[in-house]
Amino acid sequence: MKTDVAVVGAGPAGLLLGHLLRAEGISVTIVERVSPAYVLGRIRAGVLERTTTDLLVRLGIDARIKTEGLRHGGFVLADGERLIRINIEELAGHHVTVYGQTEVTRDLMDAAPERGLEIIYEAANVTLHEIESDAPWIGFTKEGQLERLDARFIVGCDGFHGPSRRAIPENAVQLYEKVYPFGWLGVLADVPPCDQELIYANHEQGFALASMRSATRSRYYLQVPLDEKVEGWPDDRFWDELTVRLGPEAGARIIRGPAIEKSIAPLRSFVFEPMRHGSLFLAGDSAHIVPPTGAKGLNLAASDVAYLSAALTGFFRHGHTDGIESYSERALARIWKAERFSWYLTSLMHRFPSQSRFDRRMQLAELDYIANSRAAQTSIAENYVGLPL
Ligand code: APR
Ligand code: PHB
Repeated sequence: MKTDVAVVGAGPAGLLLGHLLRAEGISVTIVERVSPAYVLGRIRAGVLERTTTDLLVRLGIDARIKTEGLRHGGFVLADGERLIRINIEELAGHHVTVYGQTEVTRDLMDAAPERGLEIIYEAANVTLHEIESDAPWIGFTKEGQLERLDARFIVGCDGFHGPSRRAIPENAVQLYEKVYPFGWLGVLADVPPCDQELIYANHEQGFALASMRSATRSRYYLQVPLDEKVEGWPDDRFWDELTVRLGPEAGARIIRGPAIEKSIAPLRSFVFEPMRHGSLFLAGDSAHIVPPTGAKGLNLAASDVAYLSAALTGFFRHGHTDGIESYSERALARIWKAERFSWYLTSLMHRFPSQSRFDRRMQLAELDYIANSRAAQTSIAENYVGLPL
């Protein structure tokens, strides 16, 4: 098998990159370890920046986002008593779109066959070869058969645990990491959301987030210790705790219902540099992780592939190499700023086990400052809607 660009991983990064390259007539084959149903079983954040929706509009893969996406002109920070609304539309000039990441993946998956985007699912034992040459290749097993896919470039879109990043020699890279001492317990339920907008709450008992997927489906989260088990959180305990943490006003509006999904995820900040080695590029979670506070994960994957698709198009269509040479630096400049914002919002809104009484007062003073400062709100708003590409 031979293709221009071989992509490892059919998550949002791989699928979006594949479509952007196909739209320029470049041949792409994606190899994915699991089945389509497994990929769609993953539940992740649901806030899209304009830079992300613009790409989907450009591809014409926006029919469902147009009808089902929720336009949000603001969001709320809560400090246990007060609700502080950040009017992102007024302060930063843009809205965000609340639309499940799983649905973005589904839309991209459904559009693949008609656009000649080849995806090989259930490809086992993916290995990368000769990435320092102009003729790299991927080996994998499909239905027991050993296969070889030759390409001009390989792009690793295989998430945090995939093999691509590990194919780069250790002496050529730098890693930056911060692991947070808590996780998020998430619940999905078919009940109307407690507010029209998202609420990020910093409460004495820990962080809580009220989010949604539609007018009838809510997504809620609670900060929990890392060693907590889902079994320790029957539905009633979850709703009781959420009601307290969201504060009297929003808490009173919560409508309870059975959880249709419940899981605990750890929080991590991680950056891998550089994002290119020879003929291998990295994009999305394979190169960087943000904690979910601020929902930057998918949006960063989208900005990576916006830069990378332009670079590869320049190469294949016009023989230009400058985009390829500068990809890593350009992508990382935006990534570090999103890392900063995600870390900032995480630090501001969570209770840390090591937090002193002084540290706690610093959080509350900062929230009070934000509540009363247009400058502070503007800074938060411009990061929340997404910095320009
Ligand atoms: N071989 C082939 N595919 C692999 C391998 C492998 N060895 N390892 C992982 N993959 C696939 C995974 O099965 C997954 O479908 O790579 C894909 C990576 O997808 P994501 O983890 O979703 O990462 P990415 O596409 O970068 O997504 C960026 O979207 O899903 C969210 O949390 C993610 O917010 C982040 C954003
Ligand atoms: C979600 O809806 O799942 C969500 C929203 C915003 C976040 C994180 C997760 O910051």
